[in-house]
Amino acid sequence: MQNPFHSIRQQYSRGTLSEEQVNTDPLKQLELWIKEAMEAECPEPTAMILSTTGTDLRPSSRVVLMKGLDEQGITFFTNYDSRKGLQLASNPYASILFFWPDLERQVRIEGVTERVSKMESDIYFDSRPVESRISAAISPQSQEIPSRQWLVERIGELSIGPGFNRGLQELSIKRPENWGGYRVIPEYFEFWQGGEDRLHDRVIFAQVCGNWSIVRLAP
Ligand SMILES: Cc1cc2nc3c(=O)[nH]c(=O)nc-3n(C[C@H](O)[C@H](O)[C@H](O)COP(=O)(O)O)c2cc1C
Repeated sequence: MQNPFHSIRQQYSRGTLSEEQVNTDPLKQLELWIKEAMEAECPEPTAMILSTTGTDLRPSSRVVLMKGLDEQGITFFTNYDSRKGLQLASNPYASILFFWPDLERQVRIEGVTERVSKMESDIYFDSRPVESRISAAISPQSQEIPSRQWLVERIGELSIGPGFNRGLQELSIKRPENWGGYRVIPEYFEFWQGGEDRLHDRVIFAQVCGNWSIVRLAP
């Protein structure tokens, strides 16, 4: 019987990428591609796959949302006691990957992570809808729990708990200490644009003595 996956193959033809064309600042180039993904209405344009390893050196990956991008790096928010949080505590090196199939583009980034300041985490946490804040407050992310009902009951306990004012729900949910942001400080970027007949463009930025060097890799 024929393998049904062998024939799944797409021709890429949306564009090309050259060393001359990219912005000499890779963070600016990333910003441009994210904006273009937003303009093209790609689903979840800021979603990125974050890969980490802990002491066992076995990589694990999951999707998180990019929430900040500036000259310092790329920021996302999560639970510091989650699996990824514990892994980052023992090994701060991480990789992130953006993939926009509609634009036939991916960006690979490698770097070192650090926690953002408590103030930065507070500002983002306070900007989230109250339901998201409640979920962050009651969910022991990555830990085994007895049931979905258990989570729902924790929300109930929170909303009748001591000092909780139902009328002031929005004001009352403060950021848990174990929830906050990480910044990935990039050391390596690859911008990939799908090309015709598998002749893809791969433009690399690597840190050399504090400057970005740009090279092209074979597809
Ligand atoms: C589209 C999408 C966006 C997500 N965004 C986040 C996020 O910003 N932060 C987060 O902690 N988890 C996010 N998640 C859930 C993670 O993929 C993951 O399930 C969770 O963080 C636990 O991962 P861990 O056990 O490896 O720490 C998202 C999942 C999807 C599919």
